[in-house]
Amino acid sequence: MNNDLPAIEVKNLTVSYGPVPALLDVSLAIEPGQLVGIIGPNGSGKSTLIKSLLGFVKPDFGEVLLFGEDAEKAKGRVAYVPQRGSVDWDFPVTVREVALMGRYGKRPWWRDLSNEDREIADYALEQVRMADYRNRQIGQLSGGQQQRVFMARAIAQGGDVLLLDEPFAGVDAATEKAILDVLESTRETGRTLVVVHHDLATASEYFDSLVLLKQRLFAYGAPEQVLHPELLSEVYEGTLRIFANLHNRSTGGQD
Ligand SMILES: Nc1ncnc2c1ncn2[C@@H]1O[C@H](COP(=O)(O)OP(=O)(O)OP(=O)(O)O)[C@@H](O)[C@H]1O
Ligand SMILES: [Mg+2]
Repeated sequence: MNNDLPAIEVKNLTVSYGPVPALLDVSLAIEPGQLVGIIGPNGSGKSTLIKSLLGFVKPDFGEVLLFGEDAEKAKGRVAYVPQRGSVDWDFPVTVREVALMGRYGKRPWWRDLSNEDREIADYALEQVRMADYRNRQIGQLSGGQQQRVFMARAIAQGGDVLLLDEPFAGVDAATEKAILDVLESTRETGRTLVVVHHDLATASEYFDSLVLLKQRLFAYGAPEQVLHPELLSEVYEGTLRIFANLHNRSTGGQD
């Protein structure tokens, strides 16, 4: 692995599903070992950016590089936790089997999962505090528990880049803390994390830097720069007062 290269490089990325682009001319680079949050209103292209990093959607224009390689080629180095609601939870599979799915791509097709694979999957379940549920059907868990199991799958996969689409959506404070701990300990191993996040109040606390999207890249940088009231009111339209308070909080009133 060439460590001089950014973990993620997005160059002039334009993606559209129909006549209106979901992403327009987005460029950014993320250095390895960063925990980066993506913020922006509903429909602003956050999930589309994540899917572009995965090579799931084809750009109309521009490119996505992971460690200097085309996203398509670098697929094996990326683990992904999808946005909730995009997964069929009736699928008859246990918690442990879901975590083990993270290991399938790691071995040749003719080889069975090894004891090491099982240990890695079990350890990932412990990290998200779901080991006690390992024999439960995934459909029989609460939403927050399912979310944690999907994180375990991504951790077990062990890529250099971890992409999470709203991992904190609809989880209680304890689960949020558990997920944040896992994100931080994953960053400590030198991996790069990109996380779609909705809660602006916690964004500056959780992330090293933030990407503010609404079709275009409005801002990318340190949280206190990105969470600027003017910028936010332009992107989120007319909710300036709330953001002014947030900004005061994140800068301690210094501006
Ligand atoms: N498969 C698809 N087919 C057609 N349009 C799509 C598709 N996926 C997303 N879009 C559109 O592209 C735009 C960006 O969607 P995207 O899912 O990336 O937004 P988002 O920022 O993740 O929103 P949310 O906060 O609601 O998850 C939206 O206008 C959406 O309607
Ligand atoms: Mg989304």
